[in-house]
Amino acid sequence: MTNKIYQLTHPETGKTASLPVREPTLGPTVVDIGALYRDHGLFTFDPGFAATASCESAITYIDGDEGVLLYRGYPVEQLAENSRFIEVAYLLLYGELPTAEQLATFERSIRMHTMLHESLLRFFNGFHYNAHPMAMVTGVVASMSAFYHDTTNIKNPAHIDIFAHRIIAKLPTIAAAAYKHSLGQPFMYPQNHLDYCSNMLHMYFAVPAEAYQVNEVAARALDLLFILHADHEQNCSTSTVRLAGSSGTNPYSAIAAGISALWGPAHGGANEAVLTMLNEIGSVRNIEKFVAKAKDRDDPFRLMGFGHRVYKNFDPRAKLIRKMCHEVLEELGDPNDPLFELALRLEEVALKDDYFIEKKLYPNVDFYSGIIYRALGIPVSMFTVMFAIARTVGWVAHWMEMNADPNGRIGRPRQLYTGPAQRDYVPLDAR
Ligand code: CMC
Repeated sequence: MTNKIYQLTHPETGKTASLPVREPTLGPTVVDIGALYRDHGLFTFDPGFAATASCESAITYIDGDEGVLLYRGYPVEQLAENSRFIEVAYLLLYGELPTAEQLATFERSIRMHTMLHESLLRFFNGFHYNAHPMAMVTGVVASMSAFYHDTTNIKNPAHIDIFAHRIIAKLPTIAAAAYKHSLGQPFMYPQNHLDYCSNMLHMYFAVPAEAYQVNEVAARALDLLFILHADHEQNCSTSTVRLAGSSGTNPYSAIAAGISALWGPAHGGANEAVLTMLNEIGSVRNIEKFVAKAKDRDDPFRLMGFGHRVYKNFDPRAKLIRKMCHEVLEELGDPNDPLFELALRLEEVALKDDYFIEKKLYPNVDFYSGIIYRALGIPVSMFTVMFAIARTVGWVAHWMEMNADPNGRIGRPRQLYTGPAQRDYVPLDAR
């Protein structure tokens, strides 16, 4: 807290409110309105939280105007270039880059927690073969609290650590089980000699009847995508995890709430929606028509993978993913993949269009990620699940930060009530 104050004057009474100002390490000054209702009887109104800092956080920083993304202070480009997902996970959870020994211990623990309880595995049999994988994953993650109830004391540091390691380790196994269930193939148990992303590819694509060799480019591409998706400060799903967690509910339930929030097409569901949209556009010839639709106020169609609440400049993640697309397609797919060409051309057309320039709509993280997933053989319905696995690290880091806050209170927003004023009940025969 600084000594600065911000003054608000009531338009009718002329009464002034002196509000303390808080200075962040980076980013805009924050006016602390905590006492506004208590001292002045006023609420603030900010639907969608466009100008509201919902919490204090030391995990991730975004400068949307400059296209900057920092995890614990480190630029995401440097982490993408030099680090691995598992190291980034440690950084996000514990605040510092690990020493070699800390990293080895952490990675060993994650590898040791990859298996699922056999009863949990049997849950998948209860789902119809064509159930959406996000629906299965949400349900099964929520069920984890039934299996680990004895280690969900949220004030016990050992319980917190085991929860964090378990959920990060088991999410790929749960995702793979959902995928195998949809195919009707036998579930492949994790292979703990493999690293995080290689193990995931193995569980998705191996079958018991054949030897399976993990492709290194595929594993590296997945690792990069996971680094870039690992956290993004107070986005919709992370805020959901924090809000659910603020009641003191068990952390598995809070993460399941986050997965549900991620599924929507305005959030993590956009990567699936981008592929659907590119298929619908079908050809470079149709781009102008779809761009015109996106600009038409009377048409609900939007260019999926474009625009962001915070980035009003290039999403730094989209740039890195576009570069990786070339490498992956060169190695695993068709370097002249018509969908990739269509995406590049669509980006070019949109970025030159006045509507997109004026509204500062740039490609976001989801615009190109689906093209990589597709080249790796991951079906479209699994795209948001992939996002969920990576973002679990961010959700857990935020849950841990929230849970450790000594001033933490249950999240309880207020409202601008617009319903009827008090009125008397009217008996049925008098209505
Ligand atoms: N295509 C066409 N117009 C758009 C688009 C788009 N993709 N995105 C925003 N606009 C327009 C919008 O119609 C509005 O115009 P006007 O001011 O004339 O009413 C203006 O730009 C501002 O949009 P908004 O909806 O008020 O912005 P928001 O911050 O509430 O929404 C968004 C952000 C990401 C939900 C939105 O840009 C969108 O729907 N994009 C497409 C879905 C998408 O790609 N989502 C992934 C986001 S990144 C990953 C993640 O969060 O998981």
